[in-house]
Amino acid sequence: LSICHSSLSACGPIHIIVNLLYCLCSSWWGGVQMGPPDPILGVTEAFKRDTNPKKMNLGVGAYRDDQGKPFVLSCVRKAEALIAAKQLDKEYLPISGLGEFNKACAQLALGDNNEVLKSGRSITVQTISGTGSLRIGANFLSRFHGGPRDVYLPKPSWGNHTPIFRDAGLQLKAYRYYDPSTCGFDFKGALEDISKIPEQSVILLHACAHNPTGVDPRPDQWKEIGDIVKKRNLLVFFDMAYQGFASGDIDRDAWAVRHFIEQGHNILLSQSFAKNMGLYGERVGGFTVVCKDADEAKRVESQLKILIRPIYSNPPMNGARIATTILNTPELRSVWLDEVHGMANRIIKMREQLVAGLKKEGSSHNWQHVIDQIGMFCFTGLKPEQVERLIKEFSVYMTKDGRISMAGVSSGNVGYLAKSIHEVTK
Ligand SMILES: Cc1ncc(COP(=O)(O)O)c(C=O)c1O
Repeated sequence: LSICHSSLSACGPIHIIVNLLYCLCSSWWGGVQMGPPDPILGVTEAFKRDTNPKKMNLGVGAYRDDQGKPFVLSCVRKAEALIAAKQLDKEYLPISGLGEFNKACAQLALGDNNEVLKSGRSITVQTISGTGSLRIGANFLSRFHGGPRDVYLPKPSWGNHTPIFRDAGLQLKAYRYYDPSTCGFDFKGALEDISKIPEQSVILLHACAHNPTGVDPRPDQWKEIGDIVKKRNLLVFFDMAYQGFASGDIDRDAWAVRHFIEQGHNILLSQSFAKNMGLYGERVGGFTVVCKDADEAKRVESQLKILIRPIYSNPPMNGARIATTILNTPELRSVWLDEVHGMANRIIKMREQLVAGLKKEGSSHNWQHVIDQIGMFCFTGLKPEQVERLIKEFSVYMTKDGRISMAGVSSGNVGYLAKSIHEVTK
């Protein structure tokens, strides 16, 4: 309006009308189309609007205790108290994050005595949880990877992988992974597809607790995958968002990552502490590049800093301090290992109770895959129309692909879930 007023005195009535019309009709963002809601967060929105007291939200992948409440680990509360007592300052962290955190983070993934760490031929930077780690990795690939610009994802993969790599300027391809006929791993299909991937392409592997299927290769299958990946000379990007969550054992869940390194793969690795420490909103993660030697690692580090600086300058400190305190304080570390184990076990128990409940309801289907699958998610094999009925008739919310977050199932609602699933699969 101030433009309109200033033109009033300068240009006379016609200009006033033109300017007024301009002010009313034009907009900088008139061409912006409404985007679709996020498929997972959209489930939560619909859940919130539902007034059914029996409603269940099995969409979001955040752990809940057996009362269905968000769970803050006691090791986290204790670490927070230790940190608060130190009255630390709030200065900026370095671009690559808290040094002690980076060391502890890499040790957790690779194992304390890994030759890669001893020789200094890897570099780890603190990132904004797993998503930030994947995106820094994608940007690094986009800028420095000399091979094809294709990233091969398992089919299906975590929904955010595609936009993370695409927005960094890479192209997405896929290899077979999940077999709907068995609700299990399509080992043969995966090997066939991987053996045809053009040399030097990037392959993304979920280190454990594959999201969304809950289907992981066995160690013998990992070995064969590793061999083919090596034959094809592929660059491996491991996404490890659930270390500890799959089996309850942090070393067992890191087996594939350590095996690949042992076999000479110089991998990229993304880590998240969202799930295994329950630090979701603190945004704690790490990105590691295993290099040929220490000199290469130094050069890679310098370029990672150059990448990070104009994006977010340096990462937040609070979560990294919490994770470091837990990892580096022996008493807290042992409490944490017990708590990770406890979370994984509760999920395993819920899988068993769900299958027992379905049998009790009289379901004649084979639900063994619900027990066999690993980690937070279960790919039920429910069809979209069955999912729709579960939502509409039973207020049981999940993503359209039939994925349920087992973390949202508790002793109190597992019976209702079994009954509801049985009703739509009779
Ligand atoms: C496979 C996978 N990778 C990465 C992430 C990253 O999560 P965050 O950014 O919360 O650490 C998730 C979270 O759901 C995931 O399932």
